[in-house]
Amino acid sequence: MTAPLVLGIETSCDETGIGIVRGDTLLANVIASSMDEHARYGGVVPEIAARAHLEAFQPALAAALAEAGVTLEELDAIAVTSGPGLSGALMVGIAAAKALAISLDKPLYAVNHLVGHVGADVLRSPVGDAPVTLQPSALPVATSGPLEYPTIALLVSGGHTSLLLVRDLVSDVELLGETIDDAAGEAFDKVARLLGLPYPGGPEIDRAAAGGDPNAIRFPRGLSLPKDLEKHRYDFSFSGLKTAVARHVERLRDAGEDVPTPDIAASFREAVVDVLLRKALAACGDLGVPRLLLGGGVVANARLRQVATERCAEEGIELRIPPLSLCTDNGAMIAALGSQLILAGHAPSGMDFGADSTMPV
Ligand code: KG4
Ligand code: ZN
Repeated sequence: MTAPLVLGIETSCDETGIGIVRGDTLLANVIASSMDEHARYGGVVPEIAARAHLEAFQPALAAALAEAGVTLEELDAIAVTSGPGLSGALMVGIAAAKALAISLDKPLYAVNHLVGHVGADVLRSPVGDAPVTLQPSALPVATSGPLEYPTIALLVSGGHTSLLLVRDLVSDVELLGETIDDAAGEAFDKVARLLGLPYPGGPEIDRAAAGGDPNAIRFPRGLSLPKDLEKHRYDFSFSGLKTAVARHVERLRDAGEDVPTPDIAASFREAVVDVLLRKALAACGDLGVPRLLLGGGVVANARLRQVATERCAEEGIELRIPPLSLCTDNGAMIAALGSQLILAGHAPSGMDFGADSTMPV
């Protein structure tokens, strides 16, 4: 079978992502983000995100087709995120995907957003993509070559923090654990806010932390006590950490002392990175899995990349980090997953699926 030409549509949160792949080759990856429109609210506002998808969809589609040098008629299939995510936002992408599939008479594949993040790792030879400049950290940790199994995937963004065991991308993905409260990126955004830093908070904390001492304050590592590990070995919790930072700042302010933003940012970042990698590497160790894949917008974090590189090297684990443009939400990863489903002989989804905001993997 020749490699299928697949259009991928992603609208689960605040990024309108349109990607085009042929098999495992990336042809286009256009991302229009409504992040700026959410900034003054300190987080993604679902209705604003949905409206922004509606406006961004057509220009993003046209740009992706132009970037790939293909026409709609040439497509072999369309893949779309049907969950998990914000219902209203998902519905825009799903409605558009169905309209295209019906009018063009193409098969349609409804895919899971989290599995899509893993699918990003099958893509090679990015075209119109500049991984070197898109990687905020200079660490050369992105790997090439086909996705190998089994893999542990740590997906960390503003909307999710999930640990997956991937035995096969299209048929065997198991959720090992997830956050029981805030997502990691959400924790960065909330802590930034209480330090008076703008949204999105992740990059701001990262910048502030560069000049701070990560050991200045010992903030809690959520769900890491022996009693927590029994039930929540692979789960995450960041709300206690956020509260600890808030209390620390409050105490300093009440005492009329300066708030040392760099030290607090560095210590907070250290706590998040430490617990993320501790749990991901525990999963690798427990299950005998020699590779770890990172995905999601928080992968931009310089300290996460650095500590992941160091700890994986120490433990003989292969670390895989796709280029950042494939780590944040995008349509190319959805197209990649769709293309793998086709190559594995999966049937299209039909037309009767909807948006599933809590869709399991
Ligand atoms: O994957 P993404 O672009 O969108 C979704 O959340 O779906 O991730 C955005 C999240 C935000 O919470 C943002 O603060 C966080 O990723 N982020 C970071 C960094 N850059 C973005 N978090 C920590 N360090 C960063 N450098
Ligand atoms: Zn995502």
